[in-house]
Amino acid sequence: MLGKNKKQEEINIFDNIPTLADILLPDTLQERKDYLIMGYNKYTRVFAMTIYPEQTWVSWLDDLFHIGNVNISVKIEPSNNGNVINQLTKKLVQSQSEYATYSRQGNILHLPELEKQIGDLEDLRMLIQTNQDKLFFASIFISINAETLEDLNEKTKILESELNKKTAMIRTLIFRQVEGLKTMLPTGEVAIPNYERNMVAGGIATLIPISNPNLSHDKGIFIGRNMYTNAPVYVDTFIGPPTLPNPHVFICGTSGGGKSVALKTLTARNIATTGCGAFFIDVEGEYTNLTKMLGGKIIKIEQGKSAGVNPFELEPDTKGNKQFINILDKVAEIRGLLGTICRNYGRTLTGTENTEIEIVVNQLYSDKGITSDVNSLFEKKGGRLDNGKYAIGKIPKKMPTLTDFQRKLKERGNCDELANILIPFLRGNSLRYV
Ligand SMILES: Nc1ncnc2c1ncn2[C@@H]1O[C@H](COP(=O)(O)OP(=O)(O)OP(=O)(O)O)[C@@H](O)[C@H]1O
Ligand SMILES: [Mg+2]
Repeated sequence: MLGKNKKQEEINIFDNIPTLADILLPDTLQERKDYLIMGYNKYTRVFAMTIYPEQTWVSWLDDLFHIGNVNISVKIEPSNNGNVINQLTKKLVQSQSEYATYSRQGNILHLPELEKQIGDLEDLRMLIQTNQDKLFFASIFISINAETLEDLNEKTKILESELNKKTAMIRTLIFRQVEGLKTMLPTGEVAIPNYERNMVAGGIATLIPISNPNLSHDKGIFIGRNMYTNAPVYVDTFIGPPTLPNPHVFICGTSGGGKSVALKTLTARNIATTGCGAFFIDVEGEYTNLTKMLGGKIIKIEQGKSAGVNPFELEPDTKGNKQFINILDKVAEIRGLLGTICRNYGRTLTGTENTEIEIVVNQLYSDKGITSDVNSLFEKKGGRLDNGKYAIGKIPKKMPTLTDFQRKLKERGNCDELANILIPFLRGNSLRYV
């Protein structure tokens, strides 16, 4: 009897799926005089930029991101060229008549600044008139988020002082925080008016952020802490694409700024934690202690003294999980070395010399039975070593040297000049480094 004919209302299961609004909406939105509460530990303060630096530079806003949890919203609108030119002309005429009046009165106090103003206005008008530049209206709004009100106030102070350093100023939007928040949202809503500032295209370009606010890789070597957020900063130069296209590093800074310390820290920690190798070309002997501490070897390169580096030494290359000897790469390397030596004598390698280098290097290795097989780097059996000891396992073969190369080159008789140039670089001679 009970409710026999009553239709049970069906619950649509698709109504229970979270929507975009569910993800984005804050728990609450309470506006206070100069901040917003958007959840039990979410505080936000919105600012408008009121004074801009007279001159901006690329990425001048980027430093602000290091404060952490900072949003910057830049609204840019192109202006109407006709209007701009009319207004510039009006202003120009005004400045010129002021200039004329002051000079007639003999009042020279304001003349230099008026002269600069007239020059700037003329330049800008010419650039816009000839379509080489364009004027835009830009307004910048900044919001910072924090978990507590104290943290919000602390971050506000840092933000203000960072901008003061750049001779810029912000104003907290008093009783307009919600309006400010709406302006910050990427909905294209019209910005709170009266904070626009005119800028030419170059100035607008400097507003685009170019650096990564999160100054750390996910893994790697610990090199310090972020000054503002105190978060640890890791660097992994070998992280690879897409984060880094290659492991190259460029360290620059003022004299005494800590470049060497940074490089030493990076290298020592890399060696200690990842086991990778390092080589320093150290003209001033600055890295001697570090190398000793890390158990490295110091090779002194002096005129006439053998440094123990043989350019003909071969190292296995890896392709996939296979190792092989790349003799062609070695030919190119030797060609590069000889080319560098020749450049000191104001010449390059000739075609014949290039060919002869290829033939002789290949021959030197084939004489020793060295092929692309890694095992060909070793004698088949153990035996007596140079130092009088005996080895049971593999013994590395003695590699050819620059002296062997020069002798063979001379024997072949096709490149006498190159063979003669190399004489000072051979064993026992004045320029022998290798
Ligand atoms: N992270 C750091 N913490 C504390 N002191 C440091 C730090 N980095 C460098 N220093 C100090 O600054 C001094 C100069 O550093 P460093 O020699 O690395 O500068 P540099 O940039 O290599 O100088 P130069 O241009 O003269 O080669 C060091 O002796 C060191 O005491
Ligand atoms: Mg240094």
